[in-house]
Amino acid sequence: MNDRAISGGHQEEDSAFEASLRPKRLAEYIGQDRVKETLRIAITAAAARKEPLDHVLLYGPPGLGKTTLAGVIATEMGVSIRITSGPAIERAGDLAAILTSLQPDDILFIDEVHRLARPVEEVLYPAMEDFALDIVLGKGPAARSVRLTLPPFTLIGATTRYALLAPPLRDRFGSVFRLDFYDEEALVAIVRRSAAIMGVGIDDEGIRELARRARGTPRIANRLLRRVRDYAQVMADGHVSGKVARQALGQLEVDDIGLDDIDHKVLRTIIEKFDGGPVGLDTIAASISEDADTVMDVYEPYLLQMGFIQRTPRGRIATARAYAHLGLEPRPDAAEEDPQGQLWR
Ligand code: ADE
Repeated sequence: MNDRAISGGHQEEDSAFEASLRPKRLAEYIGQDRVKETLRIAITAAAARKEPLDHVLLYGPPGLGKTTLAGVIATEMGVSIRITSGPAIERAGDLAAILTSLQPDDILFIDEVHRLARPVEEVLYPAMEDFALDIVLGKGPAARSVRLTLPPFTLIGATTRYALLAPPLRDRFGSVFRLDFYDEEALVAIVRRSAAIMGVGIDDEGIRELARRARGTPRIANRLLRRVRDYAQVMADGHVSGKVARQALGQLEVDDIGLDDIDHKVLRTIIEKFDGGPVGLDTIAASISEDADTVMDVYEPYLLQMGFIQRTPRGRIATARAYAHLGLEPRPDAAEEDPQGQLWR
């Protein structure tokens, strides 16, 4: 993942800040109202029955608060959370060790759950379904399997790629939530809250500038806030006014709707090199020297959401809106805004 200011992907310096900015309770968590309401009911019901919460799958673009929400669920359930990721669990034995060390009703959070190795997934299925661990003793004809009972637990899986999840795994989650990009008002509230925690002096106009350019993503909003705070400290009197925010964001090459030079490159590649498309994702990625998965996970979702590009069976095409945003004359047949652009997979 590169270090551009507006990537939704996780960057080194985010961790410490995110820990201090993360809401701990559902009531503090801003936005995603439908998800919150459904979760609140499920949590209340499970807690009243003194049972663990059903397994939960969270999916959506990076930076929208999947890990944060998992932490919130743990706090609300009054249990501990163990955080790991698909690629970190290399062998079946690693997962078995984690599962046997959980306390009853604990939460196991697996980020990038679509990247679990197949043998690890095989261990997860009976664990999720029956809280059981099947262990094979010995080899060949003498091999036999013993079943260990595990403490009941809740698996919270997170992924940016719902479609890459193996169907048997997908089916074992009791609830599946898609996190959507946040609207401007939610981001205004998030920036205000973060600025208060960080002690940054910022006025309403400054807050709105950041919210408007955060690509619907809290992680980006918080990162921009840190960059703008630095700028205000060095180039102004430390206070983030609308004007200071605009200057700082201009210096970071974040345009007035939050697109940066890489987004511009993606759009210009489709429009100028491929006459508006259709052009395949791999070709776009190669043209701008980025990894195809990164383009798909990090850059493309927001461009789709904004109706700047469309996915077609033959590749990506730029819409009339993308031409207009770049100040270019649209191709006569350029697609109008995509009504399906909202549908993120
Ligand atoms: N910080 C990051 N995401 C947040 C959210 N959804 N609510 C409140 N603060 C946040």
